[in-house]
Amino acid sequence: MTDTRYAGFEWDVAKSRQRRTKRWSVYGPEVVDLTVAEMDLPIAEPIMAALRDALERQTVGYPIPGPQSGLPETAAKWLTEVHGLPVDAGAVRLLPELMKGITNAVREFTPAGAAVVVPTPTYRSFFGAVELAGRSAVEVPMLRDADGYHLDCERIDEALAAGAGSVLLCHPANPVGRLFRPSELQQLAAVVDRHGARVISDEIHAPLRYQRDFVPYAAVGEIARRHAVTLFSATKAWNIPGLRCGFAALTNPVDVERWDRLPGAATGGISPLGMVASAAAFEYGGSWLERAIEALAGNRALLERRFAEAGLAEVYAPSEATYLAWLDLRRLGAADPAAILREKTGVATTAGPEHGSAGAGFARLNFATPPDVLDDAVSRIIDFVRTAG
Ligand SMILES: Cc1ncc(COP(=O)(O)O)c(C=O)c1O
Repeated sequence: MTDTRYAGFEWDVAKSRQRRTKRWSVYGPEVVDLTVAEMDLPIAEPIMAALRDALERQTVGYPIPGPQSGLPETAAKWLTEVHGLPVDAGAVRLLPELMKGITNAVREFTPAGAAVVVPTPTYRSFFGAVELAGRSAVEVPMLRDADGYHLDCERIDEALAAGAGSVLLCHPANPVGRLFRPSELQQLAAVVDRHGARVISDEIHAPLRYQRDFVPYAAVGEIARRHAVTLFSATKAWNIPGLRCGFAALTNPVDVERWDRLPGAATGGISPLGMVASAAAFEYGGSWLERAIEALAGNRALLERRFAEAGLAEVYAPSEATYLAWLDLRRLGAADPAAILREKTGVATTAGPEHGSAGAGFARLNFATPPDVLDDAVSRIIDFVRTAG
């Protein structure tokens, strides 16, 4: 682990370990841990400066998440101008974390007793959030062809016809790295509208995308805007997930009234430092983000090249967004190849089946790590798969 630079960033795993966060704390030094979705990158300097200043001012009391903080306005501007979803500040509500937002949205906008449709593979914590909201999840596996993953709108239609009340979308998709196309999102919107259902769209990964454009779900048309609840935050793209601050964009004015009746326990827990950091990210974090994407794009290319050169091109289809690689290891013939990789190669990845039954035979790998670390991990995986598969 010697080459510490990527896209001009001076960073290495030793520095990440000093953070004493989950990223490199789960296993001993013998394991290359590519599980937890945190990046091995320095925090953007404008965010660090804002945090240092906030600490100097002892900004550690109860936060003021309303309009007087200015953050709903900053977030609305970023959503409108950068994310591509026109909203005004009055439609933005703060949250401590997206998962709380998802639980609230499922509970408020899915009728009691109605199930929630979850296109899979998806972010594994979705299942717990749906359960916490007192609803059950109905998995609808995505379709997969040579072009990648697609929403199966026909089966979603059937699930809604059978009584489900909402669809929980992860867009861009964790773990598969897909940016859903506007045409399939429009098709989904028509299906959902026909059943009077709702879409909860988690768009936390949207800033981290490569080449292709991102179109927010609620931006594909007026019907989508009316039945969508959009969740996003700065914490994933700017690598500050411990700072507890996220947002809900409520593009139907009726939802705003309903959201404002939620008890404090459902929306509280926002960190004042998270608010400061999020504002700095939206206002001054653009050039850091560009460099981060450049670094991640280099790693994505490394993965693609290494697997292709090894004659294993089918294992990795380049992610369109996120810093997650969804490895197709079905040739190993195991439901959970991550467990095998961990034991045989010392590389820890996240178990595919945790992302829904459609994840059997796959593993999720976090590639936001220095290239030499990634190269070593990929070499180990390739050597093993070649002999075992
Ligand atoms: C799709 C998705 N949503 C939400 C989260 C977590 O967000 P929070 O910590 O704000 O709940 C993650 C974390 O990896 C994620 O990938």
